Amino acid sequence: MDNLINVADFEQAAAEKLDAGVRGYFAGGAGDEVTLGENVAAWRRWRLRPRMLAGHAQWRTATEVLGAEVSMPILVAPVAYQRLVDEEGEIGMAQATAEAGTVMCLSTLATTRPSEVAAAVPEGRRWFQLYCFKDEMVTRALMDEAIDSGFEALVVTVDAPRGGKRERDLRTGFRIPEGLGVPSVEAALGSERAVTIEETFGLMEPALSWTHLEELASDTALPILVKGVLTAEDAALAVEHGAAGIVVSNHGGRQLDCVQATADVLSEAVDAVEGRGAVLVDGGIRRGTDVAIALALGADAVLVGRPVLWGLAAGGAEGARRVLELLRGELELALSLCGCASPAELTRAHVIRAPAPVYSA
Ligand SMILES: Cc1cc2nc3c(=O)[nH]c(=O)nc-3n(C[C@H](O)[C@H](O)[C@H](O)COP(=O)(O)O)c2cc1C
Repeated sequence: MDNLINVADFEQAAAEKLDAGVRGYFAGGAGDEVTLGENVAAWRRWRLRPRMLAGHAQWRTATEVLGAEVSMPILVAPVAYQRLVDEEGEIGMAQATAEAGTVMCLSTLATTRPSEVAAAVPEGRRWFQLYCFKDEMVTRALMDEAIDSGFEALVVTVDAPRGGKRERDLRTGFRIPEGLGVPSVEAALGSERAVTIEETFGLMEPALSWTHLEELASDTALPILVKGVLTAEDAALAVEHGAAGIVVSNHGGRQLDCVQATADVLSEAVDAVEGRGAVLVDGGIRRGTDVAIALALGADAVLVGRPVLWGLAAGGAEGARRVLELLRGELELALSLCGCASPAELTRAHVIRAPAPVYSA
């Protein structure tokens, strides 16, 4: 793994290890994958405006998210079925995240129970990503297990009343294999069998509303983040209905294709929240400079999905740790070369739109 020096190298190494079905599930997006590509491209339509002679000799990436310190404003996004890419699965990811000193968000569709992740890596910091099942008892049991296991926040994903049209999965006929073990799905199905991604989303309650969110927020003492916000309107509604913050996200381009890249939504969401909650963003973050741009645009932190998955696929927990560490190093370098001693010093004055490309006939 020593020759893997950036996220793209880990992507390549992971692609070589995974079979076509699993690779398509993890790498793919919805429809024509317009948004999937845009997520990465849009960070690159910003340029940094570094300041010189700032007089710093030390730089810290540590910051606070939801009132608690993390070693860097880079968190691990909820990604389903992690034991598909490496037998260490979510426990390996939790170890990597704990060693990196940041927060892991465990998916509802994890292949390891919340209590098992907590027991295996008690020193780790964790949030729980919630999909609401049609069967309320299943949802309640999951939430209670996460709360009892010391998870610090609930991340309610709101962009998936149905699954997106994931054409790579349709072409490979991808199914979650029987025997992988997805405790939440087994509880909802009442049995264990191979299921498609579409069938899995069919188990979820499609008719959630802001009233549900408000009930959930008043029902639990944990802070709630609403994940999947793509407009100023919904950003404002989220904090007005009791959320402690939002995650600007399009699910890594896997739900509705042709929505905006998250980099292009971030500023309007930050303005709409008006400091009433935390603003996180995910989608297409592949470099420390992408993180610096997100922070300069007003995000409190970013989450990464595929990059850490590629790390896990390429080298288990150690691979995921290496990806987090290389992103931390790149962010620290970007901060220092921008003249900032800490993430909080990055402001909108540190970014400017890149000039539009000139096309010649
Ligand atoms: C394979 C895969 C599975 C995912 N599973 C979930 C999930 O279970 N719950 C969820 O809220 N988001 C899920 N996401 C979306 C991620 O949390 C995150 O929004 C996205 O991956 C960020 O984009 P990035 O992969 O470009 O970093 C998944 C993403 C991928 C790639």
